[in-house]
Parts: sequence; C-alpha cells; structure tokens
Amino acid sequence: MTRGTTGTATGASSPGTPAPLRLTAPAIRAFKGRRKIAALTAYDAPTAALLDAAGVDLLLVGDSIEMVVYGAADTLGASLERMVAHAKAVSGSAKRALVVGDLPYLTYHTTPEEAVRNAARFVVEGGCRAVKLEGGSQRLPMIKAILAAEIPVMGHLGLTPQSVNALGGFKVQGRRATEARRLLDEAKKLVDAGIFALVLECVPADVAARITEAIPVPTIGIGAGAGCDGQILVFHDLVGLTVPGARTPRFVRRYADVGEIVRKAAADYVADVRSGSFPSEAESFASDPIDPADAGPVVLYAAGAQRR
Ligand code: KIV
Repeated sequence: MTRGTTGTATGASSPGTPAPLRLTAPAIRAFKGRRKIAALTAYDAPTAALLDAAGVDLLLVGDSIEMVVYGAADTLGASLERMVAHAKAVSGSAKRALVVGDLPYLTYHTTPEEAVRNAARFVVEGGCRAVKLEGGSQRLPMIKAILAAEIPVMGHLGLTPQSVNALGGFKVQGRRATEARRLLDEAKKLVDAGIFALVLECVPADVAARITEAIPVPTIGIGAGAGCDGQILVFHDLVGLTVPGARTPRFVRRYADVGEIVRKAAADYVADVRSGSFPSEAESFASDPIDPADAGPVVLYAAGAQRR
C-alpha cells in the first residue's frame, strides 16, 4: 500500500497504472476553500461503482434508504443491521469516494459507549471510513467518544429527519434570526468537538452561507443554497427513481428520469413475453450434438468471472 497526499492508494493496479487515491475524511476537510465537494447517497454496489466512476467525492449510506428503498414515510425505522449490510456493498465497490455510514435513529442517543460500538460496526463490518450523525449540543459526548475511538464524524444540522416528530414535520429550519443564531452556535460546538464536515439540510441560503464562512470545516448542503462548500442529494431523487406521482422536494434538481426508463423497459418486456418475441433464438441455448447427460453440466460463466 502506498501513501498519497490526499488519501491512501488502495485496490489492485496493473504495472504502470497508478491505483486511484481513496479520499479520506482529512482530504474532504482539506477541500474547504479549494474546491466544491460533490456528494450523493448510495445504498448498493452497482450504483456506488457508477457514482464513484463519475467522480462523486463522498458517498453517504444514508438512513434515507428507509424511505427511498424500503418505502417508509420517514427514516426512523432504519436498522443498523441492514444499513451496515448496505454499507458493505457500497464500500466494497467505491474505489475513490469517501464512504460514510449514517448512524440510524437510537443507535447514538443513549450512551457514548453504545454510540462508539454502533459507529464501529460501520467501520469494521461495513468498511466505512467515517460516520454521520444528526444533532447539536446534545450529541457532543457521543461525538467526542466516537472521535476518541479514531472514527471521523460528519455532523448534520438544520432539518434533521430523525427529529421529525419533535420538529413537527419536515420543515425548513433557521428562518428566524434566533434560530439562525442557534444553528451557528451549534455548528461551532460541533467543530470544536472535531467533526470533519457538516451537512446543513433545509436551511435558508443566507444562513447556510454565514455558517459556511464562520467555520473551518466544509459545509455540505441539501436544500441550503449555493453558498455551502459542497452539495449532497439523495441518489433516487437525482435520477427520478421514485414511486410514480411521488412529490419531489423543491431543492432537488433531477438529472434523469430513470423511473420512466424502468417503466418503459418493463412494459416492453411484458409486451415481448406476451407476443412471444422474447426470447429469440440468439437468447436461447441449443442442445449439444452429444448426449448432454454424458457432457456434464453446462457452464454459463466460470466461478469468479464477471457475469455478462
Ligand atoms: O440519509 C440521508 O440521505 C441524509 C442526507 C439527506 C444528507 O442524511
């Protein structure tokens, strides 16, 4: 393993081809003031590989999975067990991006010891190199304990979806001057505790810009305007992979309509099966001139080879 200036080089490389540099939490932090950070959520191996190859800097295995993959109305039911399994798929597939595990509800709310144990599962079992958790002052003992266990922490302020019941819904936070001051104060406390980056969700653009100027770690906005040091979106929102008729939040920019592509592909498949045009001869197998019983099993693709 060799060392780079912004991360450790990992992964196999053929002679003469440099291995991609894997971004670390300190590397993400060092982007502050140098260039914008592009982050997305990811929950599975093929999507992570595609987003990584596209140059996404940070992949968050977000508890939004509970809504966009498992169809729940909020994130509160996300289980650590399941999220660690998804994290393993993402981190095993991303070569360059920093993979961050999102601690689900009630995995870091009780004691610092429990928070450390749960955060470490994302690292040891899930292959993540950092975790994210929601909230301000009330989380400081847990953040400090996780950092003391050598796990980088990303903060999350503003609309914190795990607080949806306490907040009274998914609402923009920090519109009033007192709320905006409180957000800035909380951001500074998280920075003092040692976070490497801070997600600001659904915060007025001017408030997010003020926080961004005031703290030395990157802010990564979602519905927080252009003044942040980076942006994050939920992958399914980005590409329109949503339930037909689902409401898209105002802050989402949709770059593709994958939902329509999937619907049309499935409808074409249904039509082809019903008409008998699928499968064709080329999509079928011919029997061997020798007796198949003597030839042994037909090998479709070798064990360990890429499935085509
Ligand atoms: O779970 C998630 O996807 C998140 C992002 C919205 C930041 O926390």
